[in-house]
Amino acid sequence: MPCVTRTHRRTGGLALLAVAALVAALIVHVSGSSEPEDGVAAAALGAGTSGERGTPVSAVVRIGLAGPTGDYATPRVTISQDGQLSVENNDRYSHTVTSEATDAEGRPLFDVTVAPGATRVVRGATGLAAGDYGFYCRLHPNMRGTLTVTGGSGGNSGGKQRFTMPLAVPRTVTDAHVRLDMRRTQSRMLPDGRRTTAWTYGGSWPGPTIRRPAGRQTLVTVANHLPRKAGSMSMHLHGSHHASRYDGQPTTFLVRRGHSRTYRYDLVDDGKPAPGSFFWYHDHRMDRTTRNNWMGLQGMFIVEDPQEAAIGLPQGVRDVPLMIADRTFTKRNQLGMLHEPSMVHGGHDMDHDAGHDMEGMDHGDMGDMGDMGGMAWTGPHAPPNDASVGNRLLVNGRVAPHLRTTATRYRLRLLNSSAFSSYNLVLSNGRPFTQIGTGDGLLPHPVVRKHILLGPAQRADVIVDFHGLAGTNVVLKTVPRAKGIEGTGSRVGDLMQFRVRRAAADDSRVPKDLPTPELVDAPRKISMTWDFSLEGDPETGSFWAINGKAYDADRVDHRVKLGTVETWKLKNTSDITHYVHLHQLQWRTVSRNGKRPPPWERGLEDTWKLDPGEVVLVAAKFTDYTGPFMVHCHMLDHEDHGMMATFEVHR
Ligand code: C2O
Ligand code: CU
Ligand code: CU
Repeated sequence: MPCVTRTHRRTGGLALLAVAALVAALIVHVSGSSEPEDGVAAAALGAGTSGERGTPVSAVVRIGLAGPTGDYATPRVTISQDGQLSVENNDRYSHTVTSEATDAEGRPLFDVTVAPGATRVVRGATGLAAGDYGFYCRLHPNMRGTLTVTGGSGGNSGGKQRFTMPLAVPRTVTDAHVRLDMRRTQSRMLPDGRRTTAWTYGGSWPGPTIRRPAGRQTLVTVANHLPRKAGSMSMHLHGSHHASRYDGQPTTFLVRRGHSRTYRYDLVDDGKPAPGSFFWYHDHRMDRTTRNNWMGLQGMFIVEDPQEAAIGLPQGVRDVPLMIADRTFTKRNQLGMLHEPSMVHGGHDMDHDAGHDMEGMDHGDMGDMGDMGGMAWTGPHAPPNDASVGNRLLVNGRVAPHLRTTATRYRLRLLNSSAFSSYNLVLSNGRPFTQIGTGDGLLPHPVVRKHILLGPAQRADVIVDFHGLAGTNVVLKTVPRAKGIEGTGSRVGDLMQFRVRRAAADDSRVPKDLPTPELVDAPRKISMTWDFSLEGDPETGSFWAINGKAYDADRVDHRVKLGTVETWKLKNTSDITHYVHLHQLQWRTVSRNGKRPPPWERGLEDTWKLDPGEVVLVAAKFTDYTGPFMVHCHMLDHEDHGMMATFEVHR
């Protein structure tokens, strides 16, 4: 599959060259070149015209008929300092050209979104200091290139990321009955200027962290006081095992505006307390999951296991839940969305700023699809042009925060709550993470990892060791995925800073063997295959599918008998990465591409990375509860645009 894409890309690029040359010539002309004839010739080679020192005044980044895992047709471009860079998108998909380098507030030095068939000038590229600038597509971060700027001294080279705001650690609630009011909240997401309007559970994004002992029944009453246009809501506790009616079904058991609903979580599995876990709760409403999560309806939930508490892992203030997400902000610091149609197609300038507030928007195909009784597959954000990706990176609801720590071990519970983006996490000083858990219980043994890739909804429970680092700062950042991987890449940038202040006593330890949940014996027979693909065509409309079909709330795709153990096959036959989530159970990963899963997948899981062509076998025992549950891609645009299905447990 990936190889096919590659061949296709090359041919497409060549075929377009003639057309491209014509368009490029036009750009060169507009940008004020004195020698139009040279311009045509040079532009055809993707270099632009020659300036005084023999360096091009302008250049074009071309994007060919590449497919969603495509590449820039011109990954290396050069301009002079006062030159102009343009992007010309001949692909069927929207792409961005975004600099890795940022200013001190984490804003990319240049960032343009280019709709299919469009050409845009990259304003931020003019006036940069001489040097090399890596750029990438935020929607498909595996697309990478380098801009070389030539010239003398001076110019903008960005700034070192400042980590101005302290990390916001959401308040912890431990009650057996928790009440969460969903309401509109003003919240401090950016260091300067206005606060940002969000939709929250309990007045903050993330909502309060609920901490409850395993095996102890927990009630969460959710009341909907959101604006009328938000509509009904549905809350899902991601990772947990509970009755179908409390699962956060997309079309039933909704929380209507002005009403409340109580969800019951028993925190047991097959009569035994559930493993110590790091779950999260979030909205799951039909067709609006992306919007509702983007607006802030997310929070964390920790299940405490007494056995785990006894082994000596860091606790208290040294046990920090970190929710990683990306957002785009408008000039007034409000949440903007990339695929709001007028931004992509209406010529709004996306440089550094989205043109529209999510709050104020009222466009049909995002807000009303559910009410129209069907989904519109065509239109500006029909698949595959759906990627809710922001240009700023946030931790616990703030851009680039910092946390003061002692020079001791910390337990970080890392969650990627983004709608679409994935992160390849590293520490700036090169120290590794010691991963102890997945979010669904501890691993059998700690795994030392230099980087940890987290797709949407994935978690990693890690220990970081700050011993010997007193007086230094350590940055948690995200870097590109390794070269040669045929999957959607990861975001690039700084996430947060640890300010390691002083040495302190530390009696924490990380045992070699961890109290890990028991794994089921996986049957050899595969009871169900879930195949994730893109279906349809540009004329009739495309949609994300499971087993060739778009989601239908009235259809059951697979039935399982309560009490049985089944092995399922998850398979990606599309050409981009998906992150597949199975509701209701915590699963054993039996194999990945026919091999034993990597050490960090040897505990329980609920969300798996599936790069193009990957096949993952999983197994679980269907205990305690009957009724329908979801299977879906947790890239929320994909979920909202069809990539969801239903299995039903029956007696
Ligand atoms: Cu985290 Cu079905 O969702
Ligand atoms: Cu792209
Ligand atoms: Cu997907």
